Amino acid sequence: MTRPAAPLRLCPLPGNGPLAARLAAALATDAAPAAVAPVTVRRFPDGESYVRLDADVRGADVALVCTLDRPDDKLLPLLFLADAAADLGARSVGLVAPYLAYLRQDRRFLPGEDVTSRVVARLLSGAVGWLATVDPHLHRVRDLGALYAIPHRVLHAGPLIAAWIGAHVDAPLLVGPDEESAQWVAAVSAACGGAPWLVMRKARRGDRDVAVTLPDALPPDRARTPVLVDDIVSTGHTLAEAARLLVAAGYPPPLVVGVHAVFAPGAAEALARAGVARVVTVDTIPHPTNGITVDALLADAVRALRGA
Ligand code: R5P
Repeated sequence: MTRPAAPLRLCPLPGNGPLAARLAAALATDAAPAAVAPVTVRRFPDGESYVRLDADVRGADVALVCTLDRPDDKLLPLLFLADAAADLGARSVGLVAPYLAYLRQDRRFLPGEDVTSRVVARLLSGAVGWLATVDPHLHRVRDLGALYAIPHRVLHAGPLIAAWIGAHVDAPLLVGPDEESAQWVAAVSAACGGAPWLVMRKARRGDRDVAVTLPDALPPDRARTPVLVDDIVSTGHTLAEAARLLVAAGYPPPLVVGVHAVFAPGAAEALARAGVARVVTVDTIPHPTNGITVDALLADAVRALRGA
């Protein structure tokens, strides 16, 4: 039986207001209005978090909107707001997190470490009823459902990246900086009509210390523009090392297309020093390099998941 239409309330955590407004505009229908419901998030003088829902959410489907870069400051307010919404009578509470954090520590690399991907997934799965996210960093754990025990949509920016490359680069050579990136590079190549691609090998020795190596056989056509494709630009060192090798091998200055513009301090400078000609990112995290939007994908996901 179809459930009656409920209003949709998009509650943006700080920094997520523009995305919530765009989603509200995309999702409003005559039968079920959609609107941004403002929230207050601040710190008490003692450092604890204060949150308040500044709108009536009784009977509404609530979508908390919070991309999760720099997650440690965001997670507690998010859990509190989810609790407040449910307690104040929301029909359902979900989460739009275009960037989902804490997925890289998906195993115990050194004795004594915590597998933080599991803890964060447990916390969020206990707080919200559904989740929409974009290209989560799934490496050793291949299926988000193995971590998140709630209805979810995993959206893929690959086709949008392929369209951007098709419109902006004449003869691309797609390059993944490490074996993990093969999944994105292969998908982008397929969507680009089979552009040639290669994947490098990476060994991470520390947070800002990676060793990247080129494959033995390189495509002979050095006139192609290398386009480095990766999911996360954090310190930028992975992509910077990869760019340096491509320039040294005689290719033109590479472009970088990243999904999640985390950009730790110094990342932009590292990429520029390595000879990267241009960086373009998907707008899962607001950043000056954003050039590809996932708004439509997120709106479709909210449409499908709301009420879950
Ligand atoms: C690898 O695990 C990811 O796909 C990225 O390559 C990595 O997160 C990039 O990190 P950074 O920019 O710090 O080298």
